[in-house]
Amino acid sequence: WNWLGLFLHEMTLPLLWGSLFFSFFNPQVVNGIEIYSMKIDSKVTSRFARNVITSQAVNRGNVHKEVFFDVELPKTAFITNFSMTIDGVTYPGYIKEKEAAKQEYEKAVSKGQTAGLVKASGRKTEKFTVSVNIAAASKVTFELTYEELLKRQFGKYEMFIKVKPKQLVKDFEIDISIFEPQGITELEAEGTFITNDLQNVIKKTFSDKKGHISFKPTLDQQRTCANCSQSLLDGDFTVKYDVKRTTPDNLQIVNGYFVHFFAPTNLPQLPKNIIFVIDISGSMSGREIEQTREALLKILDDIRDDDFFNFILFGSDVHTWKEKLIKATPENLDEARKFVRGIDTEGMTNLYGGIMKGIEILNAAHEEKFVPKRSASIIIMLTDGQPNVGISNTEDIRTHVKKAIEGKYPLYNLGFGYGVDYGFLEKMALENKGLARRIYPDSDSALQLQGFYDEVSNPMLMDVELHYPENEISGLTKNSFKHFYDGSEIVVAGRFADINQNSLTVDVKGEGANDVLSFTTQQDAEQTAKAFQEQEYIFGDYIERLWAYLTIEQLLEKRTAATGEEKENLTAEVLDLSLKYKFVTPLTSMVVTKPEDYDNQAGIADKTTEAKYSFDVSQNKVDGDPHFIISVPQKEDAICFNINEKPGDVLSLINDPVTGITVNGELIGDKRANSDAKSQNTYFGKLGIANKYLNLKVTVTSEKITVQNGNEKTPFTWLDSVTLQQEGLTLIINKEKNLVLSMGGGASFVVVLHQVWKKHPLHQDFLGLYTLKSHKLSEQTHGLLGQFFHPIDFTILEIHPGSDPKKPDATMIIKNKELTVTRGWQKDYRKDPKHGIDIPCWFVHNNGAGLIDGVHTDYIVSSLF
Ligand SMILES: *[C@@H]1O[C@H](CO)[C@@H](O)[C@H](O)[C@H]1NC(C)=O
Ligand SMILES: *[C@@H]1O[C@H](CO)[C@@H](O)[C@H](O)[C@H]1NC(C)=O
Ligand SMILES: *[C@@H]1O[C@H](CO)[C@@H](O)[C@H](O)[C@H]1NC(C)=O
Repeated sequence: WNWLGLFLHEMTLPLLWGSLFFSFFNPQVVNGIEIYSMKIDSKVTSRFARNVITSQAVNRGNVHKEVFFDVELPKTAFITNFSMTIDGVTYPGYIKEKEAAKQEYEKAVSKGQTAGLVKASGRKTEKFTVSVNIAAASKVTFELTYEELLKRQFGKYEMFIKVKPKQLVKDFEIDISIFEPQGITELEAEGTFITNDLQNVIKKTFSDKKGHISFKPTLDQQRTCANCSQSLLDGDFTVKYDVKRTTPDNLQIVNGYFVHFFAPTNLPQLPKNIIFVIDISGSMSGREIEQTREALLKILDDIRDDDFFNFILFGSDVHTWKEKLIKATPENLDEARKFVRGIDTEGMTNLYGGIMKGIEILNAAHEEKFVPKRSASIIIMLTDGQPNVGISNTEDIRTHVKKAIEGKYPLYNLGFGYGVDYGFLEKMALENKGLARRIYPDSDSALQLQGFYDEVSNPMLMDVELHYPENEISGLTKNSFKHFYDGSEIVVAGRFADINQNSLTVDVKGEGANDVLSFTTQQDAEQTAKAFQEQEYIFGDYIERLWAYLTIEQLLEKRTAATGEEKENLTAEVLDLSLKYKFVTPLTSMVVTKPEDYDNQAGIADKTTEAKYSFDVSQNKVDGDPHFIISVPQKEDAICFNINEKPGDVLSLINDPVTGITVNGELIGDKRANSDAKSQNTYFGKLGIANKYLNLKVTVTSEKITVQNGNEKTPFTWLDSVTLQQEGLTLIINKEKNLVLSMGGGASFVVVLHQVWKKHPLHQDFLGLYTLKSHKLSEQTHGLLGQFFHPIDFTILEIHPGSDPKKPDATMIIKNKELTVTRGWQKDYRKDPKHGIDIPCWFVHNNGAGLIDGVHTDYIVSSLF
């Protein structure tokens, strides 16, 4: 493995080795493609941000190459423009109604190949990917624009930019200009990847109304170490600022549109009456309930002494801590801490019972005038599942809850993990003046819960109403708010009925802790123009676009809970505005096509809705002759290995001592035993899935499925189509295809049936196992598959030709060991059970030696259960 060797291979295997050859000389070139420029240019005017990302690449290889443009945008942003320029010719994006865009895109794809799409990916971001095939020595420029209204939280506006160029970039730059007519009081910029050396590279200035941030690291400053070719630019770049507030509000008028910002400071806090409604059903067991306890204990430390509070827990039954709301005296808080420490899981999900009890207690407190008249009441519900006890029809629950709350208090729904019916939680929260939030299952889940509480823990005003003269205004956004929380901001925008009108009078009213806040604000277009004298930062139509952004956002929100004709009307309205202002919303897409040249290129930008969030992360599986595939999502890659043992042996696949879940598999061989036992193919013929705490055993063979609950056995065959739901178990059999099984509402498994031709001389039917929601298992989970539910990482070095010319070898650094691995493919049979889909992976030889803990024979167990 030396320069000469490399050169020779470059000639014999130009496709594979050409790129390596170049990367040896020039570390900025990855796979033959050099990204030589990447710029992120942001302009913010009165909280409204327009960001343009430009990336320029050149194909340094000597064959056609696919160039990827990969960016992550905030979920709250709308893409407004995208274009590609190839060798000087620009191909613009066109915004279309989603269905029309899809047809055009499919037409283009059917003729060619390439595609780009957006998928919801991170917590705060969604990914936009476009790829294009360009000729050797060709250049391509991608330009993407997106817009968003920056929200104020905890006293600051926050702008967030995901940075991940994946290679060293000669010309890398982030440039942010902010213009705020009220004046800027503070400006911060930080990056999760910023080292001490890079700190000085961030240039930050602000004075009066203007702020500027620039970050322009040189090639050497981008390196992870001197002479390293890896980029340390990988993470979040965050800008935070706030504006001066000499008055509680600020009104701006430009070209027939107005925007009104309202964020009074220095008001006394309202006491609050807060009900926590907490899911303790079985699926919360393990980390979720631990993290909930941890968060509630921290929240108890922050509750103020004039607040009232109570806890409602729901599993199969509903438990209340106290029959009434309780004042947050030190003694009561101590008692509450004891109660919280004792919270444990039980049974199913009686969400209806829990929430109704919470409302009842809050209603009673108000009726009995037990809590102060001037106080803010809030319900926070946390759940990780779907209602299945009491009333379980979500429409019925919504109807009852809405009737019981009657708009008196906001309902905040927190959905823990991916097992929740988030659409339902969101609808119910929105129709009760609250909002829904996801809590992502991770090590910081407790912090996420606490963070949400912090947002709503400082109410300053109730029943805030901003009144605009009705006959003068059209297209007014939401103008009444149940609560105003300290550190946030209320934004209202509208359009004048008469475009020539240039002044406005607004009456503002809200209930404070001691008295009513009430005032009148007047503004005219001239005053706004004066505040905007430094024109250079303004994009002239920013108020109009801000109005369109806010209107679309609120109409989409309304649409989530709407039905029938109302929903149709809202859809039409949003579509109209999205097309007019060129926003990529859930109803529109942007299409880019490049019709001539080699193949047709097409790209489509799509915005998925939160409810459709896919949980396609970290699925590990074993299928085939046992092929284990371990996905490593952060590398977008996989590791695979085989276990060669004899028919009849039982292997431990998953074993979680905390949830009591085990999965074991028994091997079968071919019909006729092979004389050489080592080279014999083996498969899983029988799987045993058990939960010892629920006294449940499920046995799956290629012929039948047996569910054993205590001593009671229920048999099924693969010819059945069954949905079985009983305490702690959901089992769905899809006739002759697969079965989906979840236990205790937590971990889920899919068993795939592989049927071979009945008269095949050698092969027989076998099973594959796929895991879903492995995060529901504890950290102590082990077994051949189970040990990989904990995050695992690896580094690949020295890719070199192996014994098979199509499959290069490499050195893998994993668990502080060096292993020789081979690039190969394993099949995923979920979508296509007959032929499977090839998944590329790094194959670890010798029964996974070095990758798995211990040796593979450690995993042989005596029986299926
Ligand atoms: C979109 O971007 C392209 C390329 O910069 C530009 O020519 C075009 O005018 C932009 N379209 C809009 C609507 O801003
Ligand atoms: C980097 O490479 C140069 C030239 O090959 C060499 O002189 C220098 O010692 C290297 N530095 C480090 C830190 O490896
Ligand atoms: C929907 O729009 C039509 C036409 O503008 C209107 O007549 C109708 O009342 C609207 N329906 C609802 C439920 O808003």
